[in-house]
Amino acid sequence: MPSKQSLHKNVAIFLTCLPLAYCIEFNYPAAFNFGDSNSDTGGIYAAFGGGLNPPYGQTFNFHEPLVRFSDGRLLLDFLNSKAAERRRKYLPAEEYFEKGLYMFDIGQNDIIGRFHHISYEEVLTLIPNITSIFEDGLKELYDQGARNFWIHNMGPVGCIPMNIVPFGTDPSNIDDIGCLIKQNKAAKSFNRHLLLLCKKLKDKLRDAKIIYVDVFTIKYNVTVNHSKLGFEQGIKACCGIGGPPLNYNTDLECGRTKMFNGSLRTARECDDSSVYVNWDGSHYTDAANKYTSSQILTGKYFDPPQE
Ligand SMILES: *[C@@H]1O[C@H](CO)[C@@H](O)[C@H](O)[C@H]1NC(C)=O
Ligand SMILES: *[C@@H]1O[C@H](CO)[C@@H](O)[C@H](O)[C@H]1NC(C)=O
Ligand SMILES: *[C@@H]1O[C@H](CO)[C@@H](O)[C@H](O)[C@H]1NC(C)=O
Ligand SMILES: *[C@@H]1O[C@H](CO)[C@@H](O)[C@H](O)[C@H]1NC(C)=O
Repeated sequence: MPSKQSLHKNVAIFLTCLPLAYCIEFNYPAAFNFGDSNSDTGGIYAAFGGGLNPPYGQTFNFHEPLVRFSDGRLLLDFLNSKAAERRRKYLPAEEYFEKGLYMFDIGQNDIIGRFHHISYEEVLTLIPNITSIFEDGLKELYDQGARNFWIHNMGPVGCIPMNIVPFGTDPSNIDDIGCLIKQNKAAKSFNRHLLLLCKKLKDKLRDAKIIYVDVFTIKYNVTVNHSKLGFEQGIKACCGIGGPPLNYNTDLECGRTKMFNGSLRTARECDDSSVYVNWDGSHYTDAANKYTSSQILTGKYFDPPQE
């Protein structure tokens, strides 16, 4: 979750980026994203420079700098592609602001990072604080005219190799599909608080459209039921090093080369990323993002449900 200050900064960035391609459109004239690297479609790099190296982006060529943390498209890219073509309506900035969609994808970094320093019980006590910072941020956008909000809940972070490697050394914290029990419980607890907050905000901000999106259920489903949904691997990273079950090494990220035990090793991509749910041990593949976005767009995972 971005701090208040970074929300301000993001708003400024998004307003200045309006004519650029990464301000997505679907049934809204614009969509502004507040999230982490799972949903970032270039804002960070457009603002601060830099980019990612192959094999990032190998599956889908955007004809623009490689700034997505995936082998291809992210959730937002798929949601946006529903609008078919990138119409660049030059609406006045205020209209973009008011009619635009504000999407949030939060929690992950705030919650998981804390597990390195404090106990599970202590992490749970921090959740109300994190959601209350989020509440302040959303109200600020509302005060500035924003009315349409999609709030993605936190995914099953306990099923992500980057987290399983450090926190899975205790076998009693691993469930029968190989995910971290406490980390997923913390995500669910965060999501319960977030849902209650969304309901409260809906009552308070009557002219706003606030939709809670249960991304956890979709991503957990594809992780657990991967073989039914056309995937061969639900948890194991496509791009990484170390082999099964996780193919992830904290010291050697996807695409990088480093000396290990006297020889140079490279964390390479798998042969077919379309049968993997996880791309680089942290982010989802193009194929998994495509599945997730198709499920989001059914409306079944919205609260309130919209079918
Ligand atoms: C959580 O928020 C409350 C009220 O704002 C504050 O008193 C408390 O110190 C916060 N706790 C932490 C651990 O930040
Ligand atoms: C899991 O996904 C399948 C296929 O998309 C769907 O039929 C099923 O309802 C989903 N289950 C849950 C719990 O979302
Ligand atoms: C897996 O799929 C089955 C059958 O479609 C469904 O009942 C179950 O809820 C799914 N599991 C998860 C974790 O979504
Ligand atoms: C390096 O060697 C150690 C000890 O044999 C081994 O545990 C480790 O997995 C090796 N690292 C890599 C990246 O192969």
